[in-house]
Amino acid sequence: MFNNHAITFLASLANHLRLLCLTLVLIFSSCVKNKTAPKKEEYVIGFSQCVGSDQWRKTMLDEMKRELVFHSGVTLLYEDANNSSNIQVEQVKSLLERKIDLLIISPNEAKPLTPIVEEAFNNGIPVVVIDRKTSSKLYTAYVGANNYEIGKMAGEYLANRLKQRGKVIEVMGLPGSSPAIERQRGFYDGVKAFPGIDIVKQVYGNWLINKAEQEVLNLKDAKIDAVFAHNDQMALGSYNALKKRKAEAGVKIIGVDALSDNGQQLVANSILTASMLYPTGGKEAVRTALAILNKEPFEKENILKTVVIDSTNVQLMKMQSEKIDSQQKDIKKQQDMLDEQNRIYKDQQSVLNILVVSLVLALVFGGVALIALTENWKNNKKLEAKNFEITQQQQQLLEMSERAKVASEAKFNFFTNISHEFRTPLTLILSPLEDVIADPKLPLQAKDNLKLINRNVLRLLRMVNQLIDFRKIEYDGMRLSASENNLIAFTREILSSFRDLAAKRRIDLKLVSPAKEISVWYDSNMLDKVLFNLLSNSFKFTRDGGKITISIRRAEDGKNIEINVQDTGIGMSEEEREHAFDLFYQGKVDQFKGSGLGLALTKEIIQLHKGDIKVKSEQGIGTAFTILLPEGSSHLAESEKVTGLSEADQNYNSIKIYTTDLENSEVEAKEKAFDSPKDLSLLIIEDNEDLRGFLQQKFSDEYEVFTSADGLQGIREAFDRVPDLIISDVVLPSKTGTEIAQLLKNDIRTSHIPIILLTAKGSAEQQIEGMNAMADAYITKPFNLQYLKASVKNLLRNRNLLKSRFTTELPSDHKQNISSKLDKKFMNEFSGIVESNLANENFSVDDICKGMGISRIQLYRKVKALMDTSITDYILSRRLQKAKYLLLNENLTISEITYQVGFSSPTYFSTVFKAQYKCTPSEFKRNNGSVSNKK
Ligand code: FRU
Repeated sequence: MFNNHAITFLASLANHLRLLCLTLVLIFSSCVKNKTAPKKEEYVIGFSQCVGSDQWRKTMLDEMKRELVFHSGVTLLYEDANNSSNIQVEQVKSLLERKIDLLIISPNEAKPLTPIVEEAFNNGIPVVVIDRKTSSKLYTAYVGANNYEIGKMAGEYLANRLKQRGKVIEVMGLPGSSPAIERQRGFYDGVKAFPGIDIVKQVYGNWLINKAEQEVLNLKDAKIDAVFAHNDQMALGSYNALKKRKAEAGVKIIGVDALSDNGQQLVANSILTASMLYPTGGKEAVRTALAILNKEPFEKENILKTVVIDSTNVQLMKMQSEKIDSQQKDIKKQQDMLDEQNRIYKDQQSVLNILVVSLVLALVFGGVALIALTENWKNNKKLEAKNFEITQQQQQLLEMSERAKVASEAKFNFFTNISHEFRTPLTLILSPLEDVIADPKLPLQAKDNLKLINRNVLRLLRMVNQLIDFRKIEYDGMRLSASENNLIAFTREILSSFRDLAAKRRIDLKLVSPAKEISVWYDSNMLDKVLFNLLSNSFKFTRDGGKITISIRRAEDGKNIEINVQDTGIGMSEEEREHAFDLFYQGKVDQFKGSGLGLALTKEIIQLHKGDIKVKSEQGIGTAFTILLPEGSSHLAESEKVTGLSEADQNYNSIKIYTTDLENSEVEAKEKAFDSPKDLSLLIIEDNEDLRGFLQQKFSDEYEVFTSADGLQGIREAFDRVPDLIISDVVLPSKTGTEIAQLLKNDIRTSHIPIILLTAKGSAEQQIEGMNAMADAYITKPFNLQYLKASVKNLLRNRNLLKSRFTTELPSDHKQNISSKLDKKFMNEFSGIVESNLANENFSVDDICKGMGISRIQLYRKVKALMDTSITDYILSRRLQKAKYLLLNENLTISEITYQVGFSSPTYFSTVFKAQYKCTPSEFKRNNGSVSNKK
């Protein structure tokens, strides 16, 4: 019941946990997905920068990045070629391999970069060219100021400032880069209108401050009024060169770019006269690129506005630039804050996720806990109820066992009282009986009967005494009254009681001990019972001429005295050995039924002495009981010790009680030489010697009596003797009576023998079992001898009636029992052999025995039992019958008939025929079968 609940509870818990796991997996997988799943990268823009180290380019990149913040989902791959066209070509190739969606490029030089940009464009990658150009028109859009216009604006401005007269040096950018080419062309056109302006020298500063300084320094003697450098860096380099030659004063220096913290500052510091604003276009390039990618309308040429910044507007410009700068910084700050907010938002989202998960977990666990609690509560309730039930049952059991104890106490009290009650009448039977037996005038038959009574009264007395002793030890807690005695002398005295018996039965009875005296503490009134018991047991199972030895010595353990009672008796089976000390244990073959109480009592007594008893036994070899008794008296309580020699209990009557069973029945041993031979024989199979002897005596007057004490021996006797009837006990050593009946009734040699089963077991089942085994009668003990005798007579008379069946022909449908069927079979076989050998004059009984596979005696007995005639008489009768038939029905001569019925000569035939029928065969034939004395 409880188990079922536990299983249901566990199953539901498992279901909840399964659900919980599923929920957790879902929640965690969604969280993980949020955190780690790649964002959908909408666009990848590759940006190839010719050089990234100067301020102008840094500003360009910053602008781009700032702009990109507003366009999520765009990745910018940035490459810096560091002023090398070759490197830049390789970098563009690599960007294209990385599958960019759009290319922004500021080519270092126009020509070297043209092929790779055209390739990208032709492959469908949109190209936004920024600041510098390639030599091709194959690009998607251009972002940058008009460099030609810048050059021209610079030329015109310079002419104005020089009042249209003066010598000018032009410091150009990298040769081959488009701004250098276009600015140079514009500048040329700008000053063309002013013939007084003379461009005295053009040098390449390659966009670099140091290179420009070096080139200007190289122009040692040139007297100049102005310098136009293609960027502010090179303008500063030129200023530095002039300053080194102390020739800077009054020279107007103009640059390009006008970054607020660079060119504009130089103008504000009057190092440069002016700078042409050249916007980087970073923001515009990104916007144009996204318009292209998003397929929105866009301008192919995005020309950025430019303006001259000089002393007149530089402060305003600076202010504006600074404002823009600060605004941009604000924007940056806001973007950073936005990022921070974003981060916080994401963190909060994570925390929220965890909270949600925890909440779900809490709910689930709470639910599970609630269910568990409810289940627990329910189970507890059930357990409580169960507990209550069990307690009540326990209480009932206690009460019942108390009642049982009282009842068994009462039963044992009853047995003890009854036993005590038995003792007096038994003793009163014994004494007068012994007197009567002692009377010399008593007839022999009566004496035998009285001796039988005497033996059995003693037997009863022994059992009653043992029962009382057992009861005393087991239930009344009988105490030892131990004293220190010489065990050797004590044993010798007990042995002396068995001397006569041993001599009579030629049993070698010995006491072996290394010492004459061994002192042991024991209760002599108890230990004598032990020794009497063991010795009478040995005598019971030892055959005449055997050996019984008691040896007493100090045990090897040095703590005990060992008493060994050893015999050469029949020994015990393993099972009997195991149960030797059990109360009333009955072995399978029942050899031990006489010792049921004695050995159990023995063990109890030895245990009371704090000793031990063991048995060793082997079938056919013998049995040895070994007793260990502790030395000294330290193991005994003071109350268990008595001082002085203890007196043996004289009332015990030990000797007679224990030896009465052990003498061979005199009846059996009686000489039967004078008995007259009897017609009918009986086989008695009974293991109780007295009963066997008694029955033998009672039936010997009328029948030849064979006896057997065990089952197998009985079967052997039945086959050897083929008696006319068998009386058998049911519980027997080696084979039961039922088994004997079954075996004999199913064997053609013995099937005709009536069997009476005789037993103390009077139950209906036992009787049915006996009858099933085809026993002819079943008589229960105690039986009435007259009834048994009448039953024997009756069965034998019935057997006689049956004989006629086999000598005359009966209708085949005559109802027969199984045994008579077997007998019928025997008769058919027997008469068949005889019939087919009637003509054989040498035909003998041996031929029939051989033909039927049985012995001569079995054949004689069987034929006699079934037909009450001898075999030779039967054969002769069959021959004459056949002769009669032949004489009447066949036309044969006497001589021919003589040989057909197995007579050696016609004369002999005639003589026998006449002796039987009082007429010769010829007279018989003549008179047509009428004979004077028909048989
Ligand atoms: C920066 C720079 C600028 C100039 C531009 C021309 O690298 O030299 O100063 O205006 O490039 O491409």
